[in-house]
Amino acid sequence: MAQAEGTPDVPNMGRRQFMNLLTFGTVTGVALGALYPVVNYFIPPSSGGAGGGLTAKDALGNDIIVSDFLANHNAGERTLAQGFKGDPTYIVIEADKTLAEYGLNAVCTHLGCVVPWNGSENKFICPCHGSQYDQTGKVVRGPAPLSLALVHASVSDDKVVFTKWEETDFRTGENPWWT
Ligand code: FES
Repeated sequence: MAQAEGTPDVPNMGRRQFMNLLTFGTVTGVALGALYPVVNYFIPPSSGGAGGGLTAKDALGNDIIVSDFLANHNAGERTLAQGFKGDPTYIVIEADKTLAEYGLNAVCTHLGCVVPWNGSENKFICPCHGSQYDQTGKVVRGPAPLSLALVHASVSDDKVVFTKWEETDFRTGENPWWT
């Protein structure tokens, strides 16, 4: 009888363990799901780019499709995308509604705020300490000491591809300070 009394516990234990496992599995699944974007963020930027290039991504991490992008943006706009090392990088649309051959790293060269584009002023104006950059990212007012860093922007398979800019800075005629 003693054995019979103890017997019902056996399936209960089994069920509890099973439930524990299930809970563990669920929690692990949720944790892995939450980690996925983080892990994804650290995957090397070789994916999708040719020759060391990086395919520009939108805020949701999707490749930017040039035909859609140009259909939905106006001439003269500067639009943030994810660039090298995840840095916010502007895609520039020229006055003739073509994609500029350069992109601009949006990180202020003063203390690192992200500098928004001000379309009505035709400038980038940093909200932190008031530095200003012209439409090509050239510094026109301090305290920022340097212009915004450049990257090359090109189109491959209808996607925007950034590559490093290691040549002369076309705005200053000087060697790039960011290499
Ligand atoms: Fe931009 Fe200081 S961080 S002006």
